[in-house]
Amino acid sequence: MEEKVSKIKEVALKEIEDAKDVKSLEDIRVKYLGKKGELTALLKMMGELSPEERPKMGSLVNSAKSEIEEKIKNKEEILRNEELAKKLESERIDVTLPASKQRRGSKHPLNRVIEEIEDLFVSMGYDVVAGPELETDEYCFERLNLPKGHPARDMQDSFYITTEYLLRTQTSAVQARAMMANKEKSPIRIIVPGKTYRREDDATHSHQFNQVEGLVVDEKISFADLKGTLEIFMKHMLGENTRLRFRPSYFPFTEPSYEVDVSCFKCGGKGCNLCKQTGWIELLGAGIVHPNVLKMNGYDPEKYSGFAFGTGLDRLAMFKYGITDIRLLYANDVRFLNQFDRKD
Ligand code: PHE
Repeated sequence: MEEKVSKIKEVALKEIEDAKDVKSLEDIRVKYLGKKGELTALLKMMGELSPEERPKMGSLVNSAKSEIEEKIKNKEEILRNEELAKKLESERIDVTLPASKQRRGSKHPLNRVIEEIEDLFVSMGYDVVAGPELETDEYCFERLNLPKGHPARDMQDSFYITTEYLLRTQTSAVQARAMMANKEKSPIRIIVPGKTYRREDDATHSHQFNQVEGLVVDEKISFADLKGTLEIFMKHMLGENTRLRFRPSYFPFTEPSYEVDVSCFKCGGKGCNLCKQTGWIELLGAGIVHPNVLKMNGYDPEKYSGFAFGTGLDRLAMFKYGITDIRLLYANDVRFLNQFDRKD
């Protein structure tokens, strides 16, 4: 019996010594100390021994057991450290390796144009204001001097959601919003870039497009202010040599109203295919804020006057970058968008 114990112990310790990983250590533990383990079996056989032999054998087996346990514990620590070292080694990061290439996006041409306009107008003391794209008939038309049934509503084919709600056809809706929201009825100087929607779809019209609106309301605002502002605006966007031409037009919310043309930046005004040989390109709608609009939105037309203008950002971006189909701006084709990656 004694011999058997020391034999088992010897073999066990050797096996532990040779164990290659934590898993095989566990197997060894089960093999010797588990419920059906070899040492456990010996303990169970104690009953067969004489009462005198029992304590001696008992302590022998127990000390073998704790020796094996101790050895397993030590070995386990060694193995775990080795495994950790191996793992750290295999996961070592070589900081000198070149990084994997990151694909970098670029600013959409429309956003470039919007940011350029915002920077210019903010530098002149304007605020940049936004309004809802799902707009009420009231703000999109009625408060702009376009009551229900007004024939000028036909100028803009609209997407109505209900009889009261529509996708705004013009950022002009925000003119009324800004005036109504201004409780003190103090001077206003804003631009409103944003999405607009109309029922049209061809190479120069998309059902969704972008406009920027401008509105200034203050005492003694005149046509001279409108003209000077649009000149600065257009020269900034299209070049110092750009000239402007104001033609009489009609918008219900301005009086007088103008269509504003810019001299063709491709041919300088001589006439080419872009300007259809006229030398001019129509780019903006503008005018002096109609007294009815001031009144309807809480401003005293005897005290205040204002000017407003609106232009299609898509057209502006198309001219600036030589884009021939407006739908390219909305197709999200990376081959198209990549061309505007100008690292700034
Ligand atoms: N909202 C007009 C349009 O979409 C443009 C405009 C804006 C005209 C402001 C006059 C003043 O056609």
